[in-house]
Amino acid sequence: MSIYEKIDKTYKKIWLGEQIKDDWLLLQTILTGISRRKFAEGLSIQDDKFKVLDVGTGFGALSIDIASQYRLIVEAIDIDESKIQVAQKIYNEIKSEEDFLGQINFKQQNVEHLDYPDNSFDLAVSRFVFQHLTNPVQAAKEIKRVLKQGGTVCIIDVDDSFTVEYPVDESQEILKKALMELQVINGGDRHIGRKLAGYLNEAGLEIQSVNIDTYAEFVRDPSLLLLQKLSFVKRFMAIEEEIIEHSLLTEKEFNYHFANAYDHIQRVKFLNDSRFIVRALKP
Ligand SMILES: C[S@@+](CC[C@H](N)C(=O)[O-])C[C@H]1O[C@@H](n2cnc3c(N)ncnc32)[C@H](O)[C@@H]1O
Repeated sequence: MSIYEKIDKTYKKIWLGEQIKDDWLLLQTILTGISRRKFAEGLSIQDDKFKVLDVGTGFGALSIDIASQYRLIVEAIDIDESKIQVAQKIYNEIKSEEDFLGQINFKQQNVEHLDYPDNSFDLAVSRFVFQHLTNPVQAAKEIKRVLKQGGTVCIIDVDDSFTVEYPVDESQEILKKALMELQVINGGDRHIGRKLAGYLNEAGLEIQSVNIDTYAEFVRDPSLLLLQKLSFVKRFMAIEEEIIEHSLLTEKEFNYHFANAYDHIQRVKFLNDSRFIVRALKP
């Protein structure tokens, strides 16, 4: 069994065996392994002395993938203590595998006020975090401060307008719009992708590249479909109350579109999911 397979097995065990807050994110962690590892392998980590910072590590997915492959130390931070605890637990289960090479230190921290000295890291990474930040420029300034001169930051995030699905399901679109509006109310932005380079530039970082990574799939595999359905249910049930409270949908509308959209997931469909990947350097 490869180390990635062992990691996936650990995620599944924790997901099945424990009551976890935001377990939809853990399910997404399981479902997005292939694209996340493609991102991790494109980070140009050069040697084992690299010091890496993972900003908004969540359940530690990206840090665990990176640390499994290199004999380096990853500092992984997240504002949510409960996620850090689960990440630590998953890491504790996997780190003793002899083919797991690196080390991770998990810490509860806010990216806007990082508790690291200036010039500490060769590389900072952040996956699907900037879409949640109320002050992305302040976050980018903090990342710049803790990077060494010549160090790089690599950020991957969404921009909903770049996602294409066929056939389009009206109910799913209505629910996604409510999710997008809720994220704005909570200070985030699901159109962050196109804005990332501007924010990093404003923070004094030098933009090296902006790429759109597209991932196309036809969903046919029944077991994958089952997990996707579960992920959909958990994702929207977690925000149902907030959607109704902010009058983005009435309870009746929510229930109607939820049931419709759920049925739609069963159908074979084309999905082209695009992500922005922005690389920048500390001059
Ligand atoms: C969608 S999750 C992504 C988790 C992980 N990077 C991944 O790829 O699976 C976003 C994470 O950002 C964290 N986060 C949000 N605001 C933050 C902040 N100001 N500082 C640090 N982490 C933050 C959340 O707690 C959450 O775990």
